Amino acid sequence: MTSFSNPEHLKKLFDEEVITFIERNPESKRLHEKAAGPMMNGVPMSWMAKWPGPYPVYVQSAKGAHFLDVDGNDYVDFCLGDTGAMVGHSPDASIEAIKNRLDKGITLMLPTEDAAVAAQTLADRFGVEKWQFTLTATDANRHIIRYARHLTGRKKILIHDYCYHGTVDETFANLDEHGETVSRINNIGAPVDLNETTWVVPFNDLAAAEIAFASGEVAAALIEPAMTNIGIVLPEPGYLEGLRELATKYDVILIHDETHTLSEGVGGMTKRRGLQPDAVVLGKTIGAGIPAGAFGMTQELAARISASLHLEHIDVGGIGGTLAGNALSMAAVRATLTQVLTEAAFERMEELCTTWTKDVQEVIDDYQIPWQVTQLGCRAEYSFRSAAPRTGKEAADADDFELQQYLHLHAINRGVLMTPFHNMALISPATTLEDVKRHTEHFRDAAKALFG
Ligand SMILES: Cc1ncc(COP(=O)(O)O)c(C=O)c1O
Repeated sequence: MTSFSNPEHLKKLFDEEVITFIERNPESKRLHEKAAGPMMNGVPMSWMAKWPGPYPVYVQSAKGAHFLDVDGNDYVDFCLGDTGAMVGHSPDASIEAIKNRLDKGITLMLPTEDAAVAAQTLADRFGVEKWQFTLTATDANRHIIRYARHLTGRKKILIHDYCYHGTVDETFANLDEHGETVSRINNIGAPVDLNETTWVVPFNDLAAAEIAFASGEVAAALIEPAMTNIGIVLPEPGYLEGLRELATKYDVILIHDETHTLSEGVGGMTKRRGLQPDAVVLGKTIGAGIPAGAFGMTQELAARISASLHLEHIDVGGIGGTLAGNALSMAAVRATLTQVLTEAAFERMEELCTTWTKDVQEVIDDYQIPWQVTQLGCRAEYSFRSAAPRTGKEAADADDFELQQYLHLHAINRGVLMTPFHNMALISPATTLEDVKRHTEHFRDAAKALFG
């Protein structure tokens, strides 16, 4: 149920946008009808059905910060594959390296030089020395928490309430009103009771983290240094440093999942804020969309892992993936890291994102809307509450599905794509000021329609 003050008005506005959408997208409709036969909900992956409107727009082509749908509509893409394409669609340098690799062997079960260069680049940027590659950030998270359990002999992983780290079983938990760890809504087919594997704490709550660590049950803390999947929730001063101290005190392995927070710069929040995790996880955009994930460990952690494993059985211990570290992914990662995700690119991206954020704030102020906007490097997001959230729960409580569906459909009808499950915008190296202003115009129109 929407918490918008005038639900009938919102419904009327949404229905008008649906009519416009259908008028603008006949070819997408035709393709969707065709797709409904062989695919569940007419989409290749279930969450793709969650776009607003009667069917998703079908893509013809994408380059840089824009894509063209099959009806010929042009979009500025602020979703950018929910970070998978944060580098912009098909950046030239990545594409050249990928093409160059394609007819020289894609996957071999043997390393290429590209892997060593990519790993060294990451080591230099994040300050953790030893890297491994996977196909997804989910896999990287799974692997590093397996190592953590193996080394510590403890069962539980500490996570933040309302976190998201990919489809990692241990992370689909919430805190209930009594502070107990419970299964998250729609956590289907959980293999074991979440209480056996997980300890949930609120973000920005060092006291709760200390209670968890002191229990002696926690192997690792898997955290985003800023929450990004329930709106953006920034760390309060001292929170991340405090977690580091506590993790050291209780010998808990501290993992920074920087898959999204990489938006703060080439070395993510870890580098920018001088943090010292035991491990770092990356994914999504590092291969410009060619599947690639990575996890890095301190020299000390890597040495402990190596010393504890026997070479003879290293291929069957739950860490792996036949295609992990394949030659094509590694060529894509090397080129993307060294030629696309550069310091200069991040500087520009952040500057434009600051403009995006200021523009949104200006509209909020002009219409006196009780919303707020938060920036994290080249990522920004507004939420339907007046003060920035301190915890995932505060952010979740401000959620409004109907209001969000309206805003997203309004945006799509004006050639602006936002990330589907929240109000997030990403700026790529190819995004321009004109692109940002297209969003501002849509946002101002929508605010006027809702509050004017
Ligand atoms: C912080 C974070 N970590 C990991 C993942 C998993 O990424 P993937 O689905 O590409 O494995 C996500 C996905 O949204 C994420 O937001």
